Amino acid sequence: MKKYLVIGNPIKHSLSPKLHNYWIKESGIDAVYEKKQINTTDIKEIISKIKNDKIKGINVTVPFKKLVIPFLHELTPVAKETQSVNTIYKKANKVIGDNTDVVGFERGLKHINYDVQGKKVFILGAGGVVSSIIVALKRMNISKIILSNRTQRKAEDLKKIYPDLDLVSWGDTVNFDMIINATSLGLKENDEIKLNYDGVGSDKLFYDVIYNPGKTKFLLKGKKLGNQIENGQAMFVYQAQLAFEIWHNIKPKVDEKVFSLLQND
Ligand code: ATR
Repeated sequence: MKKYLVIGNPIKHSLSPKLHNYWIKESGIDAVYEKKQINTTDIKEIISKIKNDKIKGINVTVPFKKLVIPFLHELTPVAKETQSVNTIYKKANKVIGDNTDVVGFERGLKHINYDVQGKKVFILGAGGVVSSIIVALKRMNISKIILSNRTQRKAEDLKKIYPDLDLVSWGDTVNFDMIINATSLGLKENDEIKLNYDGVGSDKLFYDVIYNPGKTKFLLKGKKLGNQIENGQAMFVYQAQLAFEIWHNIKPKVDEKVFSLLQND
């Protein structure tokens, strides 16, 4: 039986095992997908298990997407471009780091039929997932990305890699067509993003990378103002779909059943 794993810290709430094991069963594959909480010092050993075929594939989540890179033989072009790895496997005796978050974000927007081309996008946050979102938005020909992060230095580090980013101070508001919460603010019930939404209007898309809770205060605010809202669930499902495709060479179906499976948690 082939073994797959998601590593992170914390990992308790990860829905990846549920989703992958559902698709594994649907596809009649002899495999199992588990979750494992690790520390930075465990990375080397876990990845060596890919090399000696004890584990066939690993998904990587917060906070290890960058930290795993030194332990890999090769990165795919998109993993290199984002400096973020969420999917690991062995190919021609080499341990490869790949990134399926970029495609996850793209397919997620297509899923809701949102045409982002030519749009002005305001990103809040500069953490692990943001480089994948920036690369995805650039692929989709947005007109401008404006970014704001509490720790200015991290925003500046991103601008070194993506020089056409516009940066604004944390707490400042700008005009946008789409606003993305890519911070961890919203995971806890009382978390609030203090922004002035006067003049935002009601024809915007409020997008939160967080999908549990399904409606953060940020999304509820966007909705109250009459805007379209979307959480990160579709992105999560589609990054998993591509990881599954890479590992098993089967593109699993994303349908209502998949979403209701995750809803029940
Ligand atoms: P990492 O920074 O380790 O990649 P992450 O979970 O991917 O972690 O990112 C957390 C994001 O949420 C960061 O943009 C972080 O801002 P800082 O860079 O200033 O830390 C943001 N964040 C977390 N708590 C926040 C808070 N209370 N106020 C504002 N931003 C916050």
